[in-house]
Amino acid sequence: MQKILVAHDGSKASDKALKKSIELALHMRGSLTILSVVPELYLTELTDVDRNKISESLTREATESMEKVRKSLSGKSIDVKTLVRQGDPAEKILETAQKMKVDLIVTGSHGRHGTKKFLIGSVSSKVVDYSKCPVLVVK
Ligand SMILES: Nc1ncnc2c1ncn2[C@@H]1O[C@H](COP(=O)(O)OP(=O)(O)O)[C@@H](O)[C@H]1O
Ligand SMILES: [Mg+2]
Repeated sequence: MQKILVAHDGSKASDKALKKSIELALHMRGSLTILSVVPELYLTELTDVDRNKISESLTREATESMEKVRKSLSGKSIDVKTLVRQGDPAEKILETAQKMKVDLIVTGSHGRHGTKKFLIGSVSSKVVDYSKCPVLVVK
């Protein structure tokens, strides 16, 4: 069975990527893993306690958002799994893709906080550069 990994950061572009990957999973009768990465905080002015609190709250938010997405797909006949990881988004996407031996990674062209100045965002561009499997960047 073909395995698809889609990277979701809550942005409109990643919603488009998710929509596309659902179409592909249905078409290919493949399985779909939806991954949301909570970026590490590098704000040195924060205490460890504050950093942990913010991280926990971002992780909770990401988990809830993944749960919503999973529920919205429950009527469709796709094998769906959701994952929340912490760390560098591109690295976690690449690492998950390798560990799960996925056949395709799907990302949006842009993210939540980026600028449209670049043709594709920093995370999607790093994934395209370093991935060993095909990558679909949805525009
Ligand atoms: N934290 C994240 N977790 C999961 N996917 C992500 C994350 N950040 C970015 N992505 C994926 O990469 C795509 C492009 O985002 P990104 O490269 O971060 O653009 P920008 O530089 O505009 O923020 C997103 O649409 C999403 O598919
Ligand atoms: Mg981004």
